Amino acid sequence: MPAAQDPGPLRHFLQLRDFSAKEILYVIERARLIKDKFKRYQPHHTLHDRNLAMVFEKASTRTRVSFEAGMYQLGGSVIYLTTEGSQLGRAEPIEDTARVISRMVDLVMIRTFEQTRIERFAAHSRVPVINGLTNEYHPCQILADVLTFVEHCGAIAGKTVAWIGDANNMAYTWLQAAELLGFTLHVSGPPGYRLDPLRAGDVGPATLREFDDPLEACKDADLVTTDVWTSMGYEAENETRRRAFADWCVDARMMKAARPEALFMHCLPAHRGEEVSADVIDGPQSVVWDEAENRLHAQKALMEFLLLGWQQA
Ligand code: CP
Ligand code: NVA
Repeated sequence: MPAAQDPGPLRHFLQLRDFSAKEILYVIERARLIKDKFKRYQPHHTLHDRNLAMVFEKASTRTRVSFEAGMYQLGGSVIYLTTEGSQLGRAEPIEDTARVISRMVDLVMIRTFEQTRIERFAAHSRVPVINGLTNEYHPCQILADVLTFVEHCGAIAGKTVAWIGDANNMAYTWLQAAELLGFTLHVSGPPGYRLDPLRAGDVGPATLREFDDPLEACKDADLVTTDVWTSMGYEAENETRRRAFADWCVDARMMKAARPEALFMHCLPAHRGEEVSADVIDGPQSVVWDEAENRLHAQKALMEFLLLGWQQA
């Protein structure tokens, strides 16, 4: 029998800054290698016999498919749980759920509401826990987005990313990425939906610049990115938000204000005619399909890193 691998200290990925810049860049390089092998139909079964539990308390297309396909491609298997289909929907405490699930599987991914809920789960888990989206953060998406940027444009350090729209889970995760990876984040959103200075913290203009005018925010950007005006869990605010965000639709004028070679990204699902015009998301600067595909490769590298640590080849 092969000797059991020492898993090292227990690590979670609950927000991007749970990893150092070196670790994030390593995962991205590893994702590129895994992607290259995938494209050449070369097996990469580094997580043979490992089991991932996926807990969804909100809807998903990309996150579910990328984690599920990814774990099978690594040689492991998955268990899919939802709130309604599990005892979570009948008020079993999240701590008890964590204690039980983590005795049976090697890794857990959760998509839920408050960040404190995933933190409570992780505090009672024996295995690594991955944030598959909370109200506050979406770190797996940013791994895929940075991977996509690097593939198209090279290193992201020193570049400018324009975030247009809601100061939501994606915006705060982009801010963590800017701090960790050394690029500048421009943010523009309507009054009432801007970054909370307390949450944003004490960051200087090399990391964060905020703009009233979205066109100004797009100026000199290497990447323009946005997201839905109403995130999951905020549906009751839909009509109010639709009115408030009307001038924050990423359109051809905004893309023209950015650098000529700027990319457009959107984590998806998108609403054409709301946060982005159809000619931008379906146009030549958009890399949204590469971005969506890269969820698969980035998360395979992430799962491997959490379970096996630094790999050589
Ligand atoms: N971008 C993203 O997380 O998509 P899903 O909600 O479909 O998982
Ligand atoms: N901000 C969006 C992202 C969806 C992937 C939400 O939380 O609903």
